[in-house]
Amino acid sequence: MAKRIGILTGGGDCPGLNPAIKGVVYAAEKLGYECVGLAEGWKGLVDGKTIKLDKKITEYFTEQGGTYIGTSRTNPYKIEGAVKKCLKNFKKLKLTGLVAIGGEDTLGVATKLHKEYKLPVVGVPKTMDNDLSITDYTFGFDTAVTVAADAAFRLKDTGKSHRRIMVLEVMGRHAGWVALFTAITSGADFVCIPEKKIDVSKMMKKLKESYKRKKFALVVTSEAAELGSLGKTAGKKELDQFGHVILKDRGMGSQIASLIERETGIETRFAVIGHIQRGGSPTVFDRILSLRVGMQAAHLIHKKNFGKMAALVGNRIMGVPLHKATGKLKTVDKHWRDLMEILF
Ligand code: F6P
Repeated sequence: MAKRIGILTGGGDCPGLNPAIKGVVYAAEKLGYECVGLAEGWKGLVDGKTIKLDKKITEYFTEQGGTYIGTSRTNPYKIEGAVKKCLKNFKKLKLTGLVAIGGEDTLGVATKLHKEYKLPVVGVPKTMDNDLSITDYTFGFDTAVTVAADAAFRLKDTGKSHRRIMVLEVMGRHAGWVALFTAITSGADFVCIPEKKIDVSKMMKKLKESYKRKKFALVVTSEAAELGSLGKTAGKKELDQFGHVILKDRGMGSQIASLIERETGIETRFAVIGHIQRGGSPTVFDRILSLRVGMQAAHLIHKKNFGKMAALVGNRIMGVPLHKATGKLKTVDKHWRDLMEILF
């Protein structure tokens, strides 16, 4: 029997997961392994539920959005007895190694399982939020920004026609990368990111100027931007299994639009594109990146280089320590905030 590699995709899905799975499968088969998918993230290892994977099944995964093997935000460390079940099922399924494809949370679990139990696991970074350290980019981000930029262009058309200010709310959790890159690429007039409290008077001044000049304006806001005391008073915050505040009901786009209308007297509308950013075919950049990190993960397992993550460093894919990727969130840094000051 060929040696076996288990593959799981955990956390929020994003375009690039299927090509990453294909990358692992193709490289693994070439190295003499067979692959098996674990259904719906860590849940699959807890339950021992598998999905067949091979080159034939994954042949056209390069252009496919979503994840064939499913995902969930299951955290085995938060479920009684689940870590033991993961270890037991790893043996029962006769796995040589495990490829965990995920973001901060999924890879955080992989880091712990490797550190505490020497589980032979390697990581593949994915997230539309682009907030993982030690990798220059995560796949999913480029597609999410491309989709958001398209939405921004469309909002500009309708904003211009109606002489309105338009506000676009994008995802990205506690990192402002998606909002910032969308705002830059769409030539927005103002951008609100979680890393920098919104300077309301500066925003109003800029929007009034823009509106006077061209009779419309566009604001891009991250779902987690902060309005300080002007913002909605936070009610009871709902947390996911990893302790993250669920941001879906925060309504930043709506809050900012109301504030703008109140302060400027200019008719303002908002749009929230939410999960649309996570669906559809990955961009060329994401297809290539996800295939490459997937292939590298199979090689890391083959070389018994466990506890590592396949990262993009410059233009190379390298094995970097998993714990470094998940130890600290990569948020919008000074270089980008300075650039933001120039552009907005
Ligand atoms: O982490 C990816 C992400 O899309 C975030 O940008 C967003 O806050 C969150 O997931 C939404 O999660 P869910 O799919 O559980 O609503």
